[in-house]
Amino acid sequence: MQNLYDKAAELIKSKSYIVAFTGAGISVESGIPDFRSAGGLWERYNPNEYAEYSAFLKTPEKFWTMHSELSDLVLSAKPNPAHLALAELEEIGKLQTVITQNIDNLHQRAGNSRVLELHGSGETASCLSCQKQFDRTLVEEFIEITTVPRCPTCDGLIKPNVVLFSEPLPANVFEEARRELLRADLVIVVGSSISVFPAAALPYVVNQTGAPLIIVNDEPTPLDTSAEVVIHGKAGEVFPQILNALNE
Ligand code: APR
Repeated sequence: MQNLYDKAAELIKSKSYIVAFTGAGISVESGIPDFRSAGGLWERYNPNEYAEYSAFLKTPEKFWTMHSELSDLVLSAKPNPAHLALAELEEIGKLQTVITQNIDNLHQRAGNSRVLELHGSGETASCLSCQKQFDRTLVEEFIEITTVPRCPTCDGLIKPNVVLFSEPLPANVFEEARRELLRADLVIVVGSSISVFPAAALPYVVNQTGAPLIIVNDEPTPLDTSAEVVIHGKAGEVFPQILNALNE
């Protein structure tokens, strides 16, 4: 293992435009379950019923039940050593951008200043009828109530600003993420099964640019064969080791 930490640290040392691509796995050690591992969210909630856009329009109470449960965990969660390591890599001028599929705001709370949220954010919400925006405080109130929240202005359906299945990703965010990855001289993927498209297509850009890739994930991923360094383990344990090796 030490060899892999050293190899990752050597790569980081020699590069200056590092871009990270993260998924739910990076937040598991903060107490937020991922989606596809054993015990993941989709074992208990069928995404076609609970996280698909037309299902949301038909049975919003299902989505809100799941989202409220997740939001309770997110609100009490704290960035873990993996989030903090990415913030430290930004602090020392190595990491330029975090591209995340997560909606939990933990990268921002850890201190990263440039975070591209491909799947939106659970911190805010909008009315699907009049587009009124609701901030974090109001969203926290919506989570507390047991019925589906309705817009106080027009009684429309309120939906958190997260991307559901069959909804398009925010085009400008996706484009910026692609540009950042094209520019990257090193890409680090953390805690993602790299299986949900279109987001999952982004790290494949390394096959085009030739930028080296480090993958830190509990389980194998489809991109492992393209990576210079693959570390199978818990991100919150692996990153402190990489930082130690970097500081030696
Ligand atoms: N450290 C590192 N990796 C971990 C850890 C951990 N502590 N815990 C779990 N993992 C790995 C799992 O092995 C898995 O491969 O993180 C990966 C998480 O994969 P998914 O659950 O598929 O999450 P993600 O890749 O973010 O999914 C993408 O799918 O349903 C949607 O919108 C949802 O944004 C999400 C998207």
